[in-house]
Amino acid sequence: MVTLYEKAYAKLNLTLDVLGKRADGYHDLCSVMQTVSLWDDVEIDVGTGKPWCLKCDAPGVPCDERNLAWKAVKAFFEELNRDPDGLEIRITKRIPSQAGMAGGSADAAAVLRALNRHWGEPLTLEALADLGSRIGSDVPFCVVGGTCMCEGRGELLRRLPDMPDCIFVVCKPEFPISTPALFRKIDSVAIHEHPDNRAMEMALAAGDLEKVAQNVFNVFDPVVSAEHPELDAIKSVMREYGALACQMTGSGSATFAMVDEPLSAVAISGLLKKEYQEVFVCKPV
Ligand code: C5P
Repeated sequence: MVTLYEKAYAKLNLTLDVLGKRADGYHDLCSVMQTVSLWDDVEIDVGTGKPWCLKCDAPGVPCDERNLAWKAVKAFFEELNRDPDGLEIRITKRIPSQAGMAGGSADAAAVLRALNRHWGEPLTLEALADLGSRIGSDVPFCVVGGTCMCEGRGELLRRLPDMPDCIFVVCKPEFPISTPALFRKIDSVAIHEHPDNRAMEMALAAGDLEKVAQNVFNVFDPVVSAEHPELDAIKSVMREYGALACQMTGSGSATFAMVDEPLSAVAISGLLKKEYQEVFVCKPV
């Protein structure tokens, strides 16, 4: 028996624009996504001699077909026309759920990468990301990671220059957000401000952190902040203690500060930890 280890990195949306609703019910997006050094551990025993199974240490996370990692196993072995028996998959969770950080998608992507590597890379990275798009909209990006422009449903990826070094402080308030409900809501409100994705690309190409920070914007942020003033309170603390930018990620409710000074990160995380249980300090990876 061998054990495979893979890190499942969380993502932050540096920008997120919703361009419109599509005929298939999904929305066309244009988003710069970034993986960060907050990860779930994925371990896979191969050759257990038993029927395959999935285990997760976090209470409330289903270990059946509702789990995206489960769907990843099914999709990978269907693609290879093989049987997954003999696998035991264990996930140790650190990425908060219902946060907009792609926790479930990251686990699915890590399973795909680990299995593909173990079976001798039968799929290219592109084919693996394509397989991921059948599992969830964020899975293709999570397969590839780094800094990417993500379009379409999220499956059209273009690698961008690595983002300049910085520190992120992420705070996950307790209220959960339903992603489908938030997409429905955005269909019914006028979007007054959009991110300038072109300017973000230029800032990344120039390696200019201040310009990157100036262009951080998520169209969902004002919509969720209007209903949850708590987000504005979190962002005020972040700004007061030196955040270059602060914004909700994805469909929330996690909100991040981008900072360039370690002392700022210490101050922001210290203050937020007094009120919130889920506060993380991480870096781009
Ligand atoms: O693809 P995924 O299952 O992660 O999407 C969750 C939900 O988010 C979808 O059911 C849909 O309501 C919404 N969504 C969307 N457009 C996207 C991605 C997600 O409307 N591009």
